[in-house]
Amino acid sequence: MSTEITVRVNGVPRTAHVEPRRTLSDFLRKDCALAGVRVGCEHGVCGACTVVLDGRTARSCCTLAVQADGTDIGTVEGLADGTRLHPLQEAFWKHHGLQCGFCTPGILLTVQELLADNPDPSDEEIREGLSGNICRCTGYQFIVDAVREAAAVLRAETNGHATG
Ligand code: FES
Ligand code: FES
Repeated sequence: MSTEITVRVNGVPRTAHVEPRRTLSDFLRKDCALAGVRVGCEHGVCGACTVVLDGRTARSCCTLAVQADGTDIGTVEGLADGTRLHPLQEAFWKHHGLQCGFCTPGILLTVQELLADNPDPSDEEIREGLSGNICRCTGYQFIVDAVREAAAVLRAETNGHATG
């Protein structure tokens, strides 16, 4: 038996029929072809499957698709503005904040939320903000460097908009 759900995914409305047991991560990856949603531990531990649900990050491996009915869902595919990378993506690229890239979508969305709450975090606050996302490759230093730079770019953009 399947259930009808209606969601917005990266701004696009979508209605689908899903099994009640289908996870949101499987729905996004398999039904919506959004491969940026990564499935690592499937236990809510690694953060690879992080998406944005109604403005807050959530673990899509521990969320059922039916629970997301009526919500606005953001994935890493929605970060860039057409061909223009998001400042976070630019900074990760510039600072080598990724190697295999498996953890990167979840980290980008986690950091986006972190910077929305705290636009000028210390290195310690960045590390704390990242503590729920496991990266096996980078040692985190380059990620911290990238987040610090992206934070500065985003602050400058915000100030520019505020004054101009
Ligand atoms: S796959 Fe969801 S937290 Fe690891
Ligand atoms: S870049 Fe490989 S797991 Fe993070």
